[in-house]
Amino acid sequence: MLKRVNAKVLNATRYIRPVAMTSYRQMSSSIPDTPKPTETFEFPEQEETPNVVVTNEEPIVIVMPETEADLENIVVFSPPPETRTTNRATPTEYKVIQPLFQLDETMPHNPEAFTIDCSGVDMKEEPKNPEIIAKMKETFDRVGLVHLTNTGLTELKDMKRWATGIVENEIEYKAGANPRKIVDVEANVYDVGAPNTAWLHYHHEMAYVSKSPKYLSLFCKDCPADKGWTYVSDAVAATDLILQTEFGQKLKDKGVCYVRNLTDAEFYKNKDQSMIYNHWQHSFGTTNPDEVEPIANSRGLAVEWDIRGENRFLKTKYYVSAYEYFAKLDRNILFSSVADDFMWFDTWPGVDVTPVDDRPLRLTFGDDSDMTQEEKQLFVDVHDRVGFPIKWKTGEVAVMCNWRWLHGRPGFHLAPNEKRELGVLLGETFERMGDLPGK
Ligand SMILES: [Fe+2]
Repeated sequence: MLKRVNAKVLNATRYIRPVAMTSYRQMSSSIPDTPKPTETFEFPEQEETPNVVVTNEEPIVIVMPETEADLENIVVFSPPPETRTTNRATPTEYKVIQPLFQLDETMPHNPEAFTIDCSGVDMKEEPKNPEIIAKMKETFDRVGLVHLTNTGLTELKDMKRWATGIVENEIEYKAGANPRKIVDVEANVYDVGAPNTAWLHYHHEMAYVSKSPKYLSLFCKDCPADKGWTYVSDAVAATDLILQTEFGQKLKDKGVCYVRNLTDAEFYKNKDQSMIYNHWQHSFGTTNPDEVEPIANSRGLAVEWDIRGENRFLKTKYYVSAYEYFAKLDRNILFSSVADDFMWFDTWPGVDVTPVDDRPLRLTFGDDSDMTQEEKQLFVDVHDRVGFPIKWKTGEVAVMCNWRWLHGRPGFHLAPNEKRELGVLLGETFERMGDLPGK
């Protein structure tokens, strides 16, 4: 076990901190205007191997924790209050919470319950094999999750064709908080819009806007054998867990507010954009600030402009229940997660060095009050407890109900000879209604 020590970092302009047990990466962005005087940090003490490297010459701190417990001892670097861009009198205190992403595939379902082995079926045949389609529909109806294996497919467009067996009326990804690139023009397939090294907390797709997809599909063109897996978590089981806690009841009483801080493309035009997540111009598809509010309101969002000189920040707020009524099961399901909090960026290169109060997303209770560290931990834990991996092989297609299942993944690093490419397909949307009393 490593011990804690006080490490003095002089003139820190860059630092490195862990993203996984066995790896680290260098932060690309510098923190402007960090004062020269000494800052004090607590880091694990080095033993035989250098777990902490502090250098004044080229001020970089390298921390390589060996165990999960060590991660908890890392203090997130944050510039001192006088250099911050927010007006918050008291910066939010927060210690990084790493999701577990447990490997137990039988929790809470045996994979047999949702896996369809397509061996021996010509998956490229037209029309699609009716037996497989029927199995998909039955499985989706029963579990809300379908995993096609041994499809023999290698092209995203062919996998997408099977995804549409469930996912109807594909939507174009427009209202999302972050830009996605098209990975396959022919198939109109988008990438998942996140850096590999970042862990992605379990989430329902687009829970932070008033229209969310009913279902989504992910499918695999390439994936290494031992990483890059998608994890799914059973929202029904998580709901039952969280409702047994005070926090779950508090969520029920107060609801949640999704806050988004969008930056100004015009202001950042010729500046370093490594710390930028999304500009309001991209998010709303207009450069005219007068057009933003009507579009935002049509999406159920309140807006607040924060003009600082030439820089026009936009804050959007969406107040909604933490739960969502799901007619098929005639019950409310927990529909929120920490993925829509500043925690989403804990391992995003560039954004993770931004003070938590200045990050693009924030999740609060519906009365604008913050969740405590313990409440956030509990939020992560309930989804972790009922989550498990989909261990991708080329050609596999997963389809999930966006009410009943969340998805996420740990961060990963690819060796130069490794590839990971997933396609994502989002289905038609439903209008959020929140929870129904007594359900
Ligand atoms: Fe997602």
